[in-house]
Amino acid sequence: MTDPPLQNIVLIGFMGSGKSTIGRDLAHTLSYAQIDTDALIVERAGKSIPKIFAEDGESAFRDLESAVLRSIAEDHLQGHIISTGGGIINRPDNRTLLRRLGYVVWLVVNPEEIHRRTSRNRNRPLLDTDDPEGTIRRLLAERTPAYRETAHLAIETDNLTFPEVTAGIVDSARYFFGQA
Ligand code: S3P
Repeated sequence: MTDPPLQNIVLIGFMGSGKSTIGRDLAHTLSYAQIDTDALIVERAGKSIPKIFAEDGESAFRDLESAVLRSIAEDHLQGHIISTGGGIINRPDNRTLLRRLGYVVWLVVNPEEIHRRTSRNRNRPLLDTDDPEGTIRRLLAERTPAYRETAHLAIETDNLTFPEVTAGIVDSARYFFGQA
């Protein structure tokens, strides 16, 4: 039998799906600590994400991302909100680790809204293309099966406010941990 997941909430979803904002709300509401895989990668690499992509390439970034996730898993944390980068679900080993870490919630957002939110800044190298909306649609289609496979819960956030999303996650997490 596999061990039950640890008592953490793990947020997955595409760039611009609100993982950091909702993570902050959840941490505040539940009095949990919050960690963010992108922030840990930047700390470990000593440089920004665009710089890692530009100087070392995407696969080096993915290696760092997997290493950070393994370190988090080795810490056997409880009571944390773990926000993740949008591509963390690409590697099968990461998907297994995410589900072991806690209750995995996928924030689902439509591509137009993602485009609207992510066009405000240029800190996402994968969307620094001639056709960011087309790139969003392609990556979203490629990744959707992996998000679905990894998540315990998928929340369609398009018609909800951030506080409504947070409240829904809190309720369902209580139920999940009660059952786990
Ligand atoms: C990425 C998402 C980013 C960051 C990196 C790659 C992706 O994180 O990890 O730019 O592959 O979707 P956010 O989802 O927090 O923007």
